[in-house]
Amino acid sequence: MEFNQEIAKRTEEIEGIIRSYLPKEEGYQKTVMEAMNYSVLAGGKRLRPMLMQETYRLFGGKSRIIEPFMAAIEMIHTYSLVHDDLPAMDNDEYRRGKKTTHAVYGEAMGILAGDALLNYAFETATLAFDIEPENTGIPRALQTLARKAGIYGMVGGQTVDVESEGKSGMTKEKLDFIYRLKTGALIESSMQIGAILAGATKNEQKMIEEVAAAVGLAFQIQDDILDVTGTAEVLGKPIGSDERNNKTTYVTCEGLEKAKEDVKNISEQAIAKMDSLVVKNEFLTELIRSLTAREK
Ligand code: IPE
Ligand code: IPE
Ligand code: MG
Ligand code: MG
Ligand code: MG
Repeated sequence: MEFNQEIAKRTEEIEGIIRSYLPKEEGYQKTVMEAMNYSVLAGGKRLRPMLMQETYRLFGGKSRIIEPFMAAIEMIHTYSLVHDDLPAMDNDEYRRGKKTTHAVYGEAMGILAGDALLNYAFETATLAFDIEPENTGIPRALQTLARKAGIYGMVGGQTVDVESEGKSGMTKEKLDFIYRLKTGALIESSMQIGAILAGATKNEQKMIEEVAAAVGLAFQIQDDILDVTGTAEVLGKPIGSDERNNKTTYVTCEGLEKAKEDVKNISEQAIAKMDSLVVKNEFLTELIRSLTAREK
């Protein structure tokens, strides 16, 4: 099967898994559930659950225990987007080709839907205990999910990102810090959880964390590039958001050409590191390589 068809098939399968873990829209608190489901079901590439599932397969994982964690990481990622788009943050009106959650449901419900998705992600992930109670990796997987989303991960990165807006004095080192946390951390979490639940060794887990950190850094640099060179139709979100918010990005720091080169080089480093593992997953390698040329 061709790679693009393979991606489409797997994305559809992941879509089904995510959908099966979303809450029923019922009760007096129905609105927040509608807003949660609206933001998650709006689409998206489902990259993080895909990386998680493929890393799980890389290390020989075969059970459905990975599924609640796949849904959970996409809930956390989606919550980060819902809050990232709020007026107090990047103030964006479109996401995944649709009006942002706060634009449809109001700001208060946008905040609550984000809170709810973060919490529901953990409620969902703990269902893994029912699927494979004998898997001793579950507590470590939960710890990884928690830590990489928080102050030592995504929230930490977003903090420095918003604090740096409109200020001079950004350094390459600080920018790397922001990217490794705001974007890298959830990608690390995805791949590490796949490795942990499949029973990878400590050393393999460490290697995968490093691979994922490089993938995440390249992914955010490409996101910055697309904010300049992309189109809203293809991206499903507005372009020029960074400039409007006076962000220092990899593109403003290093220039477009260097940024493009770095996406390729950093991704090749990730692939080379993964190739040094004994286990192989060709689809995963191809997936990581395909991200360097992504247009959305
Ligand atoms: C967008 O992530 C936010 C970043 C970390 C750059 P994605 O580009 O994965 O967004 P979706 O999930 O496909 O909408
Ligand atoms: C967002 O970075 C990273 C998150 C943790 C959400 P951006 O602000 O560049 O993401 P987009 O471009 O809005 O998707
Ligand atoms: Mg942002
Ligand atoms: Mg943004
Ligand atoms: Mg961006």
